[in-house]
Amino acid sequence: MNKNGLVIAIDGPAAVGKSTLAKLIARELNFLYIDTGAIYRAITWKVLKNSINVNNENNISDLVADTCITIEKENSSHNLKNYHHIFVDGEDVTEEIRHPEIDRNVSQIAKLPKIRKQLIHLQRRLAEKGNIIMEGRDIGSVILPKADIKLYFTASEEERIKRRYTELIDKGYDVDYEEVKKQILQRDEIDSKRKHAPLIKAKDAIVIDSTKKNVEEVKDEILKIISRHKKYRGKQIGNNII
Ligand code: CDP
Repeated sequence: MNKNGLVIAIDGPAAVGKSTLAKLIARELNFLYIDTGAIYRAITWKVLKNSINVNNENNISDLVADTCITIEKENSSHNLKNYHHIFVDGEDVTEEIRHPEIDRNVSQIAKLPKIRKQLIHLQRRLAEKGNIIMEGRDIGSVILPKADIKLYFTASEEERIKRRYTELIDKGYDVDYEEVKKQILQRDEIDSKRKHAPLIKAKDAIVIDSTKKNVEEVKDEILKIISRHKKYRGKQIGNNII
């Protein structure tokens, strides 16, 4: 892990607002943002494209070994929706990996131990680049256990389902509320009960409950936590002099 930069790990269940906040903080502080869910989604996209059974660990493992995933930040990342682009073997899959079909299958693939092991190195390598904010399910517990700041996001089930439903409708997907609910709860169940690197709050993580807070309030709460960290004392964060 890099010694000079500040490393922030964010974990939490589905649709809890990790990505939105991580992108906002990264933009404010000029940090590198790494969305590890996008990596699992990208693999899932390729698995489905190649009609491989989502339970076939060996075939998926071969596919992962033969896949190049890259993440590129947009130059002008004012628009949070187009913050970065994800490429699988050179093909831009940024939009496609958010499709409900990926939601339905990703956790099945993400629970396979061989696949998780293969993806550890890629994630740690990405984290070596300096000031970073990485989000996922096992970042504080497994991928970056020495992160400077660990945050664990929570929000009520109802709030999370509402947020994801609205997000999908806004994107133009014809989804049913009950179907979104079922899929989110199912994904949480698989992610938190799997044997290897389950979704878990690291012992030293700070809990951020966003149920009754808007994005700005959560952002301020996180910036305050960062400002108290010794690596940041006396420095300027965004427009705030600490
Ligand atoms: O955006 P959302 O919260 O719906 O999910 P995501 O962060 O894009 O992650 C999609 C899925 O990838 C999760 O439901 C997990 O199954 C898996 N994942 C994981 O296992 N470990 C991570 N570090 C990140 C994601």
